[in-house]
Amino acid sequence: MHDTDCINFLQEYLPVLGYRWKGFRKVRRQVCKRIRFRIRELGLTNLHSYRQYLENHLEEEKVLDSLCNITISRFYRDRVIFERLENEILPYLAEKAIRNRQQQVRCWSAGCCSGEEPYTLAILWRLSVLPGIETDIPLQITATDRDPSLIERAGKGIYPGGTFKDMPLEWKDQAFEKRENNFHIKELFRRDVQFLEQDIRYDLPDGEFELILSRNLVFTYFQEDLQLETLHRMMTKLKPGGYFITGIHESIPEGQNILIPFGKCIYEKRDY
Ligand SMILES: C[S@@+](CC[C@H](N)C(=O)[O-])C[C@H]1O[C@@H](n2cnc3c(N)ncnc32)[C@H](O)[C@@H]1O
Repeated sequence: MHDTDCINFLQEYLPVLGYRWKGFRKVRRQVCKRIRFRIRELGLTNLHSYRQYLENHLEEEKVLDSLCNITISRFYRDRVIFERLENEILPYLAEKAIRNRQQQVRCWSAGCCSGEEPYTLAILWRLSVLPGIETDIPLQITATDRDPSLIERAGKGIYPGGTFKDMPLEWKDQAFEKRENNFHIKELFRRDVQFLEQDIRYDLPDGEFELILSRNLVFTYFQEDLQLETLHRMMTKLKPGGYFITGIHESIPEGQNILIPFGKCIYEKRDY
């Protein structure tokens, strides 16, 4: 299967699934490899026969949808964003919650992969934010992903060393125990995170949040109209005055007037 054949195929089928080619350009080889494997698995010979198979077996769209799922993540991915969370956003939310006599600050990590993003937040909170304030207020993190195998891995909290290359070493040492060649998250940080298998296109977690992280998913891979629709649904879960964080290469679609930019990749929800 030539690269150009696979590109043509993706350009045709991604929009059918609600995705956009722009987000897949860089990761297409990974997706094409999976499609090639699937074609062989079905006993087919080429993309032409796979197209026909898709037309005759509507349920195959679901399989193709899962073949297009990109699952790359790292602890402390995009340092500049986590630095602003650590130094500005999280301490501000903690102090505001204490002033308002809240029992906790709530955060949602949407598309959490194997837990790298929500555990990074739990680590930041316990090792950097809490020592700077007087009250031991918890950060309660809800982390969702559509892929059940990732949710299972996230719950176990066991990682190979390579996934920490962006994280400050002293945090890794404090938050993980090394056993053989892997790193196990300590119970103290695990208990702050609740993992749920949820597809953001159809489900939202319960309750409202002071902080939502939607990074490297909706605004990279979804088509523009689905981006806007998903953003509006996510906004029903963000408290007024709460913060919304995107990935470093993402921008939110035009046509919304709920979020005010607050520096790169950070937005504040209007309070009026
Ligand atoms: C590229 S990873 C990004 C992970 C993390 N947010 C980060 O920035 O490092 C995208 C994640 O979103 C998940 N995902 C993809 N489509 C989803 C959907 N419709 N609903 C929920 N999660 C989804 C994938 O399984 C994957 O774990």
